[in-house]
Amino acid sequence: MTIQSVHASKLIIENLNKRYFTPASEVVALKDIDLTIGAGEFVAIVGASGCGKSTLLRIIAGLENGFQGSIRLGYAPVAGPGLDRGMVFQEHRLIRWLTVEKNVAFGLNGRENGEKERIVREHLELVGLAGFARAYPHQLSGGIQMQQEILRIWEVERTTMVLVTHDIDEAIYLGDRVVVMSNRPGTVKKVLPVDLPRPRDRSSYEFVQIRKEIFAEFFAAAERPFAYAI
Ligand SMILES: Nc1ncnc2c1ncn2[C@@H]1O[C@H](COP(=O)(O)OP(=O)(O)OP(=O)(O)O)[C@@H](O)[C@H]1O
Ligand SMILES: [Mg+2]
Repeated sequence: MTIQSVHASKLIIENLNKRYFTPASEVVALKDIDLTIGAGEFVAIVGASGCGKSTLLRIIAGLENGFQGSIRLGYAPVAGPGLDRGMVFQEHRLIRWLTVEKNVAFGLNGRENGEKERIVREHLELVGLAGFARAYPHQLSGGIQMQQEILRIWEVERTTMVLVTHDIDEAIYLGDRVVVMSNRPGTVKKVLPVDLPRPRDRSSYEFVQIRKEIFAEFFAAAERPFAYAI
């Protein structure tokens, strides 16, 4: 999972488009993303690998330039990293041999060292990981423990949360809403509210129904080319 926490402001993403240019090709990573996340809301985003989830989070974090559309926190446009936003990375996406702080700094190439250190410190403080700056990824709690920790931080701080994950159960367990993204180019395919009290029971009828609905979305995408082929 990767998580973005925003100090309780509304996050408004309008008509967001992001393309990457490589010498050989152009990749449309995000297409016409419209998503408003309420102040203090917890939104979980799921989607296949390469659909643009990390790109979206990096744009929210202010780590990615060169996009079209608008992204605002409250009334202010997002321009560059700031204290009002923090980020937690997917444990398995962290580089094993770098400490947590070095991993965060790794995403900030091109900035001068003093500024890098400041951004890293601020981000780790924001997400409650300041004490883990020198820890290695395997020393962070993972899975269910991490989910409990995220819920705790969210309940105490009431920040606006954006979680990106491949784990559908994790998304339903944590989110007020689950956003399903389509395959490349990444668009918002479906938004499902999770109207269940916390802590959630992963085996409850309602939980299982939502899981089925999300799986159906993934399946629909996979089946379409076949349907056209016959
Ligand atoms: N710096 C870059 N230059 C060129 N293409 C890129 C770059 N970063 C990402 N992409 C491409 O943009 C698309 C979206 O990538 P992104 O990493 O946001 O996907 P993702 O949903 O986070 O995938 P995963 O689930 O595997 O983490 C992919 O096709 C990826 O190859
Ligand atoms: Mg990713």
